[in-house]
Amino acid sequence: MARVSIIIALASALLSPVEAKCYDPSPAFPVPDWKDGAELKPALDLITDRLEAIVGGEKYDKTSFSVEITSNTETLWTHYHSARIHNATRLGVKHVDGDSQYRIASITKTFTTLGIMYQHAAGNLSLDDPLSRYIPELAEKQAGTIPWHDITLRSMASQLSGIPREMAQGDLINRIDEPWKLGLPPVSKEGLPDCYEYKGHKPCTRAQLLNDLKRRSPVYAPNQQSTYSNVNLVLLGLVLENVTGMSYSEYIDQAIFKPLNMASTSLETPPDDHAVLPLGQYYWDIDEGVYRPTGGIYSSSSDLSKFLRYILTHYNAIVKGLNWIMPASWSMGMHNFYGMPFEIFRTDRILEESRRPVTFVTKAGGEPDYFSRISMLPEYGLGITTLVTSEYGVLQELQEIVSVTLVRAAESAVWSALASSYAGSYAATDQSLNTSMHLSVSAGKVLEMTSFISNGTDVLSTLLPEFSYADQEPMALWHAQLQPTLLYKDFSHQRGEIWRLMTVSDRVGNQDERPIFDDLCLTDVDFGSYGGLPINEMVFWQEEGVVELSAWRMNMTRAANSAAEETIEAMHGDLR
Ligand SMILES: *[C@@H]1O[C@H](CO)[C@@H](O)[C@H](O)[C@H]1NC(C)=O
Ligand SMILES: *[C@@H]1O[C@H](CO)[C@@H](O)[C@H](O)[C@H]1NC(C)=O
Ligand SMILES: *[C@@H]1O[C@H](CO)[C@@H](O)[C@H](O)[C@H]1NC(C)=O
Ligand SMILES: *[C@@H]1O[C@H](CO)[C@@H](O)[C@H](O)[C@H]1NC(C)=O
Ligand SMILES: *[C@@H]1O[C@H](CO)[C@@H](O)[C@H](O)[C@H]1NC(C)=O
Ligand SMILES: *[C@@H]1O[C@H](CO)[C@@H](O)[C@H](O)[C@H]1NC(C)=O
Repeated sequence: MARVSIIIALASALLSPVEAKCYDPSPAFPVPDWKDGAELKPALDLITDRLEAIVGGEKYDKTSFSVEITSNTETLWTHYHSARIHNATRLGVKHVDGDSQYRIASITKTFTTLGIMYQHAAGNLSLDDPLSRYIPELAEKQAGTIPWHDITLRSMASQLSGIPREMAQGDLINRIDEPWKLGLPPVSKEGLPDCYEYKGHKPCTRAQLLNDLKRRSPVYAPNQQSTYSNVNLVLLGLVLENVTGMSYSEYIDQAIFKPLNMASTSLETPPDDHAVLPLGQYYWDIDEGVYRPTGGIYSSSSDLSKFLRYILTHYNAIVKGLNWIMPASWSMGMHNFYGMPFEIFRTDRILEESRRPVTFVTKAGGEPDYFSRISMLPEYGLGITTLVTSEYGVLQELQEIVSVTLVRAAESAVWSALASSYAGSYAATDQSLNTSMHLSVSAGKVLEMTSFISNGTDVLSTLLPEFSYADQEPMALWHAQLQPTLLYKDFSHQRGEIWRLMTVSDRVGNQDERPIFDDLCLTDVDFGSYGGLPINEMVFWQEEGVVELSAWRMNMTRAANSAAEETIEAMHGDLR
């Protein structure tokens, strides 16, 4: 296409516009309001059917599980399975329900971190303070080489401190009687801590922990590289005790469990009447002592749904300057990041009709016989809790079925909603102008501007490409996509949703043969203005049925029949 550059040298005059291609930007839609979840009902029923089809298997004889899906306002779906074979001498709960309790192991870390964030917000500590300020023993001279003064609370919560993973856990010496059979020499237990795995699970004390740590060496320098460490959160528990003057357990109970009405959640071992006890069941009663802040909590799926709703609605409002669900470091996997202390997973393989990445903000827990995961899908406003006994494989099986089915259904419900609220033909309020616009919804391109004539000029082929890399691409290789900013012109009444129009590259050809740097993509949604207003800002005034094109100082009205037509066009195929 021979496109004349109307605006002379505009692109080159802009300071570094978007540097490279960006495919599949997100967010692609505002956070859906699921209300009672009616749009998801077919998918939720399908998940129920799939789970019912697998629980007949032998693996599920001795396994119990609880799974819940919550929106950011209410629980949408639950499913519980009770093991068929129980321990004859100690039953625990026979029929699992939403209040049944499990050990949630490392999910505890999210509570400890929330406590630290509350204390930061209260001005009782700073996330960027060194740990040694709150644990005097670590400021003392020591035989070990961990640089405690250089390790901040933030690094610890983000798994970036570089300190060792465990204290009195995970030592093979406690598991094998004849080490030479594994090729290991006999060694003595002299000098090792006299607690927990070294001593029949007797809880370790603060003194035992700190004495041991003062002899240890780091894995990495602080902030060099993330690596999982239980000790990070153990120490943050001690920091909470230092600044609040309360025991860790008391503090978490009054600061989090009580305000969130998590009545089935505790750090003390609950009585057996709601306990989900695996056959072997030796772990339920173990007091983790100083390790409680990293793995000590007992909870239920209904309580964790409450916790997820709290996070989904508050993650950017707890500590100024900190969005709690964002990554702090990349992890070993291409798709994995550590947050604070979340484990973030992004996949571009989950949606069936686009490769738009979907982000799971998760925290997993594992303890002998208890396996668990909480996951949040902030873009969809959904959270998933999975609690399992006995079989790690069951957790994996459940999360694949539940997450994949749910995300695909949520995605398709989103398109229908977008089509009925935004898609269609828009006309200028000033009828004397040859001005019109069409928005459409499709699987891969989400909300797309397919045409925009302004006062007789085709904007998509003239103006828009000047503002992005798209001027180097034939028009067939990109589309104009709208992205919500989640802001409003009138925030208090949630009126006037602000969106940005982006030129987005389409994937063409053999994806394996693309240039390496084709994957370099930096977010830049504010790339130009006209007369002081953003050129790509579009404001939807839903009640008035108009869209405002800010730079054009113009409102356009949506044609009355648009919604119905577009809804039919956008309806997605069968659930798979
Ligand atoms: C907290 O730590 C500070 C400094 O390390 C110490 O002086 C203080 O006694 C500790 N307070 C409590 C309640 O443990
Ligand atoms: C801040 O610390 C003080 C003193 O330890 C304590 O009384 C107060 O409750 C703490 N603030 C919060 C919000 O926990
Ligand atoms: C049942 O629980 C008891 C402890 O309460 C334990 O000693 C026993 O090994 C368990 N039975 C089975 C079959 O795991
Ligand atoms: C429409 O275009 C004409 C020239 O064709 C111009 O004179 C006029 O100012 C434009 N009006 C608006 C509202 O853009
Ligand atoms: C409006 O402008 C478009 C694009 O320049 C042109 O193709 C179309 O014929 C015009 N329509 C009228 C009614 O002038
Ligand atoms: C567009 O409509 C909205 C909502 O009625 C109004 O607040 C805004 O001022 C209008 N903008 C223009 C340019 O007419």
